[in-house]
Amino acid sequence: QSIIAIVPAAGIGSRMGADKPKQYLMLGQQSILAHTLDALLSHKRIDKVIVALHPQDQYFKQLPQAKHPKLIQVIGGGERSDSVLAALDQAMQINANAWALVHDAARPCLRHEDINKLIASLKQYPQGAILAAPVRDTMKRSDASGLITNTVERALLWHALTPQFFPISALHNNLSQALAANASITDEASAMEWAGVRPGLVSGRVDNIKVTHPDDLQLAALFMQQAQ
Ligand code: C5P
Repeated sequence: QSIIAIVPAAGIGSRMGADKPKQYLMLGQQSILAHTLDALLSHKRIDKVIVALHPQDQYFKQLPQAKHPKLIQVIGGGERSDSVLAALDQAMQINANAWALVHDAARPCLRHEDINKLIASLKQYPQGAILAAPVRDTMKRSDASGLITNTVERALLWHALTPQFFPISALHNNLSQALAANASITDEASAMEWAGVRPGLVSGRVDNIKVTHPDDLQLAALFMQQAQ
């Protein structure tokens, strides 16, 4: 099975409050995006890595990974899902029978162990699966004033992580239709769910965090150090 990784990296990371998009902030020796790309480019089962960039991106060409023979650049869109769709358009041209492994640029601590687990889950989940983490805290629902309405049963709740792993043609089809229908699509699984597919959940490592706020950067640096 041919696998093409897709990396949405076209966000501006406004919640980070930094002077450049968060994927270009340094984490130890290199930027967040460089770490993310290394994890994917070095995996033997991944044939190509398509990265979706902001139309005004000035930083990507400076990364050593930019010239890697497996790497392809496309221009992303206004939302994460638009960026993924732009990369999927390209992936369809390369090999419509391949599988897409979609991974956020902002998750630099990804390990091969998790990629392997997700790829291996194809046997159990032939329509696709995502990495996820079981919810650990007690969950509350509130009203708009911040008062608790009720406690939500935690046992069946998960955090959706990335990578998310689906057949390229099915994902392309479902994502383009869901976006055309104005459905709320925040990850690849939600596009598949919208089309009636029930993706599998594969329990992933908890250090595969998404760098969103400044605090996350320190935590990610700690996890990266532990990996070395
Ligand atoms: O903002 P957030 O952390 O949820 O974004 C998740 C990922 O999607 C990031 O890697 C970001 O660069 C990417 N993204 C994108 N195109 C957008 C918005 C976000 O590729 N328009």
